[in-house]
Amino acid sequence: MVVAKTKRTQKIFKTRKAMSVDYEKITTKRPLPTGREISFGESEIIVSKTDLRGVITYANDVFVRVSGYTEEELLGEPHSILRHPAMPRCVFYLLWQTLAAEQEIFAYVLNMAKNGDEYWVFAHVTPSYDLSGKLIGYHSNRRVPSPEALAKVRPLYASLLAEEAKFSSHKEGMTSSFNAVLKLLSDNKITYSQFVFSLAGQTKLENSIR
Ligand SMILES: Cc1cc2nc3c(=O)[nH]c(=O)nc-3n(C[C@H](O)[C@H](O)[C@H](O)COP(=O)(O)O)c2cc1C
Repeated sequence: MVVAKTKRTQKIFKTRKAMSVDYEKITTKRPLPTGREISFGESEIIVSKTDLRGVITYANDVFVRVSGYTEEELLGEPHSILRHPAMPRCVFYLLWQTLAAEQEIFAYVLNMAKNGDEYWVFAHVTPSYDLSGKLIGYHSNRRVPSPEALAKVRPLYASLLAEEAKFSSHKEGMTSSFNAVLKLLSDNKITYSQFVFSLAGQTKLENSIR
């Protein structure tokens, strides 16, 4: 699951670093979290597409409605426009590591709407290719997570966030929380994908993450 940094991976990380968003500097533009939770329909899918840097190139009507942004406000913005401060950094690190290796990933994500309200999604993110097989961006479909999964994800993410907060350096905090995830997986002899799908109903990991 941990992907060795090939030249291509390094290039993707370098490109992203060059355009990464400094949340501390832009807090005036960002909403403050209201702590109010919103949701969307079980049969609905929030869809977005991005370029290779994670800049939004497509947003469906459900995405527009739930996020509270207009289509114009979303297109051209980095996907981190939705980033909720309660999301552990290690989740996004894993997401980008996996995408850089041209693999798909499923993940639970807490997002923040334009007015600061929050909503949980179960996201499936995949690489997109053109007809010649060239990687041209990423695509994400998101559904409403089950209450069973969320009951386990909330405390897990809270503990990962607390781990990250122990460090003054974002990078060190992220490394430490990422190692905590790796330990959880290796202690349970389970892959990340098995872990993610176990959250929705099975109890194999229940004791580890409570
Ligand atoms: C296709 C795709 C969809 C994404 N969807 C989200 C999302 O819904 N919410 C989110 O916070 N980040 C999402 N991300 C990750 C962001 O690009 C970003 O890594 C994350 O918000 C953390 O911000 P940072 O990398 O600037 O720290 C997505 C990335 C891709 C490629």
